[in-house]
Amino acid sequence: MVAAIRVHKFGGPEVLTYEEIEVAAPGPGEIRVRQHACGVNFIDTYFRSGTYPLPFSLPFIAGSEAAGEVVAIGSGVSEFKPGDRVAYVTGLGCYAAERLVAADRAVKLPHPISFEQAAAGLAKGITAEFLLRRTFKVEKGMNVLVHAAAGGVGLLLCQWANYLGANVIGTVGSKDKAMLVKANGCHHTILYREEDFVARVKNITGGRLCAVVYDGVGKTTYPGSLDCLGPLGYFVSYGNASGPIENFNIGLLQQKGSLFATRPATFTYIAKRADLIAITDDLFDAVGKGAVKLDVNQRYALRDAAAAHRDLESRATVGSSILVP
Ligand SMILES: NC(=O)c1ccc[n+]([C@@H]2O[C@H](COP(=O)([O-])OP(=O)(O)OC[C@H]3O[C@@H](n4cnc5c(N)ncnc54)[C@H](OP(=O)(O)O)[C@@H]3O)[C@@H](O)[C@H]2O)c1
Repeated sequence: MVAAIRVHKFGGPEVLTYEEIEVAAPGPGEIRVRQHACGVNFIDTYFRSGTYPLPFSLPFIAGSEAAGEVVAIGSGVSEFKPGDRVAYVTGLGCYAAERLVAADRAVKLPHPISFEQAAAGLAKGITAEFLLRRTFKVEKGMNVLVHAAAGGVGLLLCQWANYLGANVIGTVGSKDKAMLVKANGCHHTILYREEDFVARVKNITGGRLCAVVYDGVGKTTYPGSLDCLGPLGYFVSYGNASGPIENFNIGLLQQKGSLFATRPATFTYIAKRADLIAITDDLFDAVGKGAVKLDVNQRYALRDAAAAHRDLESRATVGSSILVP
């Protein structure tokens, strides 16, 4: 038996229940992993609360990312062997001391990257990679707006966009967060709970506005985000930390300068194994070059998953959080 965090009914953080579970021997194409650290992501709260539809019925083990050591392999697995260090981003099932994973979802960890760093940064780093390099290609000199810049994905976006030569503007919820993002590559900060972020972006960019807005906040930043874009700019709505955008009006894209809008999801970008490997290689390369750092900002015991969710949802965290089994 191993420890895990199960959800039996949708609700607040209190529905995250610490239990003992059985883990079977790996089936064909599977590996069994002893997990050393589990990543905490905002998407985990959407599944816990029922905001996102479950791909199967209740109960389920929460968590969508982890890192650990392979302890057994199923038939047909040739890429991994016991003892390998791996990490993965999966649908659900990651808040556990051990689990089975489809081998084609795992990547080998390069040695400088620890289990904790991988759990803190793999999902968020993959997201930053495809947002900056694939959804829209950020180039030197572009004005880029990152909402919730002090968050897990936000901090990586700031570092990486800065490395690419962009002029990085970040919105944050407090002065402490503003200091943190400045130390992570953000050139200009906006306290969007106090200041009119659209007016500040106009002022900072001398009226030229931005080539792209990365918006993981959703409800409270829409439609202001569209007003931060210059002609033909890209509205990249990649999350809904404040609630989903309802009644998206496509006519606004025409009125505000022939804008583009997209709602990307990690699972589309890494659905093919070749893409998963290309994106993670690019991420590990960026880490190796020092373009981005995979820091652990908050660390909790696995049994304290509810506290981790409470902190994340109440905007009390910065950067990345992990659970340690
Ligand atoms: N599309 C994808 O594939 C994908 C992949 C990964 C993550 N995401 C999305 O990216 C976003 C960030 O994820 P993350 O895990 O890195 O979380 P996070 O940014 O560390 O946490 C969310 C942040 O959003 C801000 N926020 C604004 N309004 C909020 C509200 N009403 N309630 C809570 N937070 C609010 C807070 O920062 P301030 O205090 O500074 O406002 C908070 O710290 C989420 O929306 C997530 O769903 C999407």
